[in-house]
Amino acid sequence: MNKIYIEGNKKLNGNVLISGSKNAALPILFMTILTKEKIEINNVPQIQDISIAVKLLKSLGAKIKNKNKILYIDTSNINIYYAPYHLIKQIRASIWMLSPLLMRFGKAKIFFPGGCDIGFRPIDLHLKGLIALGAKIIKKENCIIAIAQKPLQGKHIYMEKISVGATITVMSAATLAEGLTIIENAAQEPEIIDVATFLNTLGANISGAGSNKIYVTGVVRLRGGYHKVMPDRIETGTFLIAAAISKGLIICNKTEPKYLKNVLKKLSETGANITIGKDWIKLDMKGKIPKAVNISTSPYPGFPTDMQPQFTLLNSISQGKSIIIENIFKNRFTYANELIQMGAKIEVKKNYIICKGVSKLSSKNLFSTDLRGSATLILAGCIAKGITVVNNIHHFKRGYESFPKKLNQLGANIQYDMKYI
Ligand code: EPZ
Repeated sequence: MNKIYIEGNKKLNGNVLISGSKNAALPILFMTILTKEKIEINNVPQIQDISIAVKLLKSLGAKIKNKNKILYIDTSNINIYYAPYHLIKQIRASIWMLSPLLMRFGKAKIFFPGGCDIGFRPIDLHLKGLIALGAKIIKKENCIIAIAQKPLQGKHIYMEKISVGATITVMSAATLAEGLTIIENAAQEPEIIDVATFLNTLGANISGAGSNKIYVTGVVRLRGGYHKVMPDRIETGTFLIAAAISKGLIICNKTEPKYLKNVLKKLSETGANITIGKDWIKLDMKGKIPKAVNISTSPYPGFPTDMQPQFTLLNSISQGKSIIIENIFKNRFTYANELIQMGAKIEVKKNYIICKGVSKLSSKNLFSTDLRGSATLILAGCIAKGITVVNNIHHFKRGYESFPKKLNQLGANIQYDMKYI
């Protein structure tokens, strides 16, 4: 059944263990195509998108074992430069196969990737970066063919728009290109640092990852190695919101506070009491109603677009009015209509929403449309009056490991069968 039942009026309290980062693990997995030697990747989140990425690698000929969240990967038998359409279509991250396959075979064929429906998801910046390095790109009706008639050459590339995905595509291709590549106007997300750290472990020569200028000196080949994926900063932020909206106290363990500075600043503005340690963050709402905060999303180190839906929910039950501006994606407010059904006072405009806090939301039969929106509706169900049903739960399963189980351990009551509510 693709739905869950959520009992409302819950206060969420306790400790939660943060999983590995989806948006670091996915590119890292595809980067294993760049080497023929054995790789071990630890702290891989057990989520749907990872399962699809593993299937994609196996479809190329890779051998992969998953033991206790460690993936043991042997790509020596990868022998084809294209993956099946039905898998590629399911995740946006499949675009990250293009560059490694091109560097390994001198040719790659990728169908246009899928992913969350949060707006048109172009790949022009990925392609322009590879062309700048000397690749030839042939666009077919539903796929892209990339060819390297001779070894790619390092270049000084200025990214015309900040793009996490395209920065990773160019950075990975440059690791095996000839000479120096400089990527200016690079995305600075922490996940890019994790990918660069992984590639350097394999013998790449990358510096500046995490800044807007990345230097890559090409090497002849990459070796094998071990890497532990960074914690998921968006999962962390989602659980901190769970504490704030339910007036509870939650401690997120095994996380990385330094990557949430902007989110923690905004949460402090709501009146939440925040304490941080080396690898943990505690949010204690002390039973208070939050104060509404204005949000404007931007590339890292700005406010993350992946936390936008969760903050809209927070503002929906906070004191006062707020404006949330979405500057990254064109269609990332679809979840708002579901919150309006629950009684939230939200006006949806072109690329912003105006929110007026209400004291209580009411339970409804809700429909998820994307990953972060789906997690937000589940959190809304935890605090609404009555029993909320959230449909299309395949969305949250893509990116949150054991989300209902972790919430139930914090005092929620989320069931896959109404009779257990
Ligand atoms: C990554 O998507 C993340 N996905 C997204 O997380 C995240 O929201 C996004 O980065 C921004 O931080 C993964 O890592 C799998 P972009 P990505 O390229 O790489 C435009 C989640 O919820 N653009 O930084 O696709 C694009 O349309 C997901 O975990 C082009 O115009 O994002 C967007 O407006 C959602 N041409 C902007 O750039 C391109 O070739 C930023 O996109 C590529 C992107």
